Amino acid sequence: MGKKLKVELVFGATYSVAFLFLLVWIFAAAFFYVNPLGSCKHKLRYWRGHSLISIKKDDFSIEEVNEVIKEDPLKFQLRRLVRDEDRIQIESTGFSCLHSQISEVCVSERPLVIDNQTINVPSSQLQLKKYLKPYGEVSAHYLVSPVQIVAGEQFNSSLACHVTHHVPAVVFSSGGFAGNLYHELSEIIIPLFITTRDFRSQVKFVITDFNPKWLKKYSRILNSLSGYDAINPAENGTVHCFPGGVIGLKYYGLMALNSTDLPGGYSMVDFRKFLRESYSLKYENVFQIKRERPVLLLISRKNSRVFLNELEMVALMEEIGFEVVLVRPSGMSNLAKFARVVNTCSVMVGAHGAGLTNEVFLPSGAVMVQVVLLGLEWGSTAYYGGPASDMGVQYLEYKIEPEESTLLKKFGRDHPIITDPDSIGAKGYNAFRTAYIDGQNVNVNLTRFRETLVQAMELVDLDL
Ligand SMILES: *[C@@H]1O[C@H](CO)[C@@H](O)[C@H](O)[C@H]1NC(C)=O
Ligand SMILES: *[C@@H]1O[C@H](CO)[C@@H](O)[C@H](O)[C@H]1NC(C)=O
Ligand SMILES: *[C@@H]1O[C@H](CO)[C@@H](O)[C@H](O)[C@H]1NC(C)=O
Ligand SMILES: *[C@@H]1O[C@H](CO)[C@@H](O)[C@H](O)[C@H]1NC(C)=O
Ligand SMILES: *[C@@H]1O[C@H](CO)[C@@H](O)[C@H](O)[C@H]1NC(C)=O
Repeated sequence: MGKKLKVELVFGATYSVAFLFLLVWIFAAAFFYVNPLGSCKHKLRYWRGHSLISIKKDDFSIEEVNEVIKEDPLKFQLRRLVRDEDRIQIESTGFSCLHSQISEVCVSERPLVIDNQTINVPSSQLQLKKYLKPYGEVSAHYLVSPVQIVAGEQFNSSLACHVTHHVPAVVFSSGGFAGNLYHELSEIIIPLFITTRDFRSQVKFVITDFNPKWLKKYSRILNSLSGYDAINPAENGTVHCFPGGVIGLKYYGLMALNSTDLPGGYSMVDFRKFLRESYSLKYENVFQIKRERPVLLLISRKNSRVFLNELEMVALMEEIGFEVVLVRPSGMSNLAKFARVVNTCSVMVGAHGAGLTNEVFLPSGAVMVQVVLLGLEWGSTAYYGGPASDMGVQYLEYKIEPEESTLLKKFGRDHPIITDPDSIGAKGYNAFRTAYIDGQNVNVNLTRFRETLVQAMELVDLDL
């Protein structure tokens, strides 16, 4: 709908404008080695009406685009990341840190001279010395090393480049809450996708808090976004020089993309398409899966939020007509392999926990059933339920009763842990975590749970 409207908007304009637009488009395509049809959506979104209406500072005018592309395609790509005041600033000084995001991101059209965690920006127009944590989520910043950005007179002019790179750098941390699939996707991978997709692989990643395990886990994604090996700036005294780049990643919050923002206007739909390409996933929609019985993936947990009657749950699922795949945490360690398993499933069932993040690999129209434990209503919706609908995944909740939680036996019916979870939350996150996240297992009431499973079956089995 939206796409079509934009196309009409542009081509509904006068011929001369359309012609001008076409010229610029071809020009841009030639410069970026881009398939003009493939990137049509973004280009149209980007250039829509800029010469028709008065020139706003957060958009390019045709003349501006022409000039910048001719002059410097790198500059053009970097300017795509900024708007409003930031755009004005980068045009005058070649450097700008974005104001509008909840995270801080700096964009430089000036060369970057990277000496371990110090990033020097040679420039006579800038006076700057600041620290930045190149990781979106602020609550993780205590686990992230800062980089120092030094520009202007402060710049260390005696530094020599040991290696000169010819594509821009994107500097970010693989620290923070890495190790947890949810946080890795929400706080690193999605922001990395948003920030770097439009470079079309012509970019190098400079990764602070360099974590080889993380790099290995996400090698497919990193290889899809960059045509080069990642650089560890702390490795040996090598000074790396880049023609420009980005420090930090654009971040919008829990599993969030923002389709109305620059650079690409990417949405969760675009991100899922990117994942399917990166991991060679077969199914876009659940109805493409041709199986005798729909496959249900049961995410098994080991240390907390455990399903105590897991085998009885499996028996019930089979009785209802599912083919059940039960996966333990060890079965999820190879992300590329597991993503393909998830992608062949019609239903995924699990208790609140990072394993549910695998919903990103489900085909659209599949069903995610979250077993919501006591006290975890808010987190269940915010982390997994809400994002499911952005993904086109159907979402069902099975909320347990106190009788099903091990907390009832442990504390008794009248304890505030049972009667008043908010009062536990008010004592702070650690108290809350100890009580509900780490301290609780569940014995699912199969009579009640059956109803939820039958509902899931109805949603995925067209023949019913
Ligand atoms: C500037 O760089 C030189 C060469 O790497 C180094 O020896 C010196 O300590 C640096 N100065 C400062 C102030 O960082
Ligand atoms: C880079 O900086 C970090 C943190 O200050 C330090 O631990 C590491 O040794 C440095 N690397 C080199 C090669 O100097
Ligand atoms: C630093 O490490 C890189 C990558 O492993 C290597 O290519 C380079 O030769 C090393 N430089 C020095 C000075 O050891
Ligand atoms: C999305 O981006 C637009 C444009 O920058 C901004 O106005 C809006 O607040 C953003 N929304 C969120 C949820 O960040
Ligand atoms: C399970 O749920 C059903 C329906 O709500 C209820 O009648 C039954 O007592 C519950 N069983 C247990 C063991 O709590």
